[in-house]
Amino acid sequence: MKISIGSDHAGYELKEIIKEYLENQGYEVVDKGTYSKESVDYPLYGEAVAKSVSAGEVDKGIVICGTGIGISISANKVKGVRAALCTNEYMARMSRKHNDANVLALGARVLGVDLALSIVDAFLSTEFEGGRHERRVHLIQNIESTGL
Ligand code: RB5
Repeated sequence: MKISIGSDHAGYELKEIIKEYLENQGYEVVDKGTYSKESVDYPLYGEAVAKSVSAGEVDKGIVICGTGIGISISANKVKGVRAALCTNEYMARMSRKHNDANVLALGARVLGVDLALSIVDAFLSTEFEGGRHERRVHLIQNIESTGL
């Protein structure tokens, strides 16, 4: 599976840890930046990861900022992207099973490293259930085409 990952300065260290963690498991990881702890603007990195997912360049995306809030809001502006801000494994599992989330958002200032890694594991190892949830995901997609 191919994963793109991106963060602002607040998420930089956790991004590096997650990138190495995934590469060690054989994932192909596309790093969209940032590449240092120098202060940057999170929307740019949320957008870059989200666009790589919506373009089909990668299978899933991971975005990280201090809280995970700003970068998840940014990623969700890109058509076709369903970014889920998760603070525990249950949310990560359910975001896949029920929402078919294709981007995981994490808050580096909210989570410890071990918890963040277990959230990543839960997200990447859980499949969408389909069924009635398919209809709801389509309703989300309708908002993208009809929302002003
Ligand atoms: C950066 O200081 C911080 O605002 C950002 O990482 C994020 O938490 C925004 O939602």
